[in-house]
Amino acid sequence: MKILYVGDIMGRPGRQTIKKVLPGLIQERGIDFVVAQGENLSDGKGMRPKAIDEMREAGVDFFSGGNWTTKREEVYPILEDPKGPVVRPANYPEGTPGRRYKIAETPFGRVLIVSLMGQIVGYLDPGESNPLHAIDAILEETKNEPLVARIVNFHGDFSSEKLVIGQYLDGRVSAVIGDHWHVPTADARLLPKGTAHITDVGMVGSRDSCLGVKTDIIIQRWLTDERSRNELETQGTMQFCALLIDINPTTGQATHLEQIIQFVEN
Ligand SMILES: [Fe+2]
Repeated sequence: MKILYVGDIMGRPGRQTIKKVLPGLIQERGIDFVVAQGENLSDGKGMRPKAIDEMREAGVDFFSGGNWTTKREEVYPILEDPKGPVVRPANYPEGTPGRRYKIAETPFGRVLIVSLMGQIVGYLDPGESNPLHAIDAILEETKNEPLVARIVNFHGDFSSEKLVIGQYLDGRVSAVIGDHWHVPTADARLLPKGTAHITDVGMVGSRDSCLGVKTDIIIQRWLTDERSRNELETQGTMQFCALLIDINPTTGQATHLEQIIQFVEN
């Protein structure tokens, strides 16, 4: 089965790029299931149900989670619903809205989807627990489930953390995909025991920006240290970053992977 993992969709510019690129790509490459990082879907911070619906219509089947996933309360019912197509990070404290993992139905069978927060994300979210322990517990809890694939997303800043978790889970899950950085790395590979891995898949949004935000705002912030509001860049060339993974549904192992980076003129 072919699973596409799409990096952080940055607000409206990101959503527009998804609508331009994804439907054709699904058809062209015979993609069976699409997971996308949704934490930046609405204005770069959190996700509104309307934006979720819009992306589902464009072909996204499921959304992984990050530090902004629980920002907007209107998404809580979807996070709580075992069939709701959004998962929040597993290693957030107990009582955080949503579930630690979800199991999605796909044409090939059931797929486990987990997001983990890195422990170094610019700042440390209070109460966040060790991501390695969190995934161990989930794999133990789901070991008798008839799963055809296990997709783990690691949302963090440090390449070291994202590299270690890949090695840690090699052979135990189908893929470990890093995101949150918004800058794609050049290290996509199949690990020795059959796990697809990339340190960071990148994002969907304006390339001519600072990680999706207007460059002037970020440079001014660096120059003056003043706090300011993020404004997403809507102009310029848009980038679409994803990882296409072939998985053998009988073994749950990845057999092939391909990094996809496309640019779209706005
Ligand atoms: Fe993030």
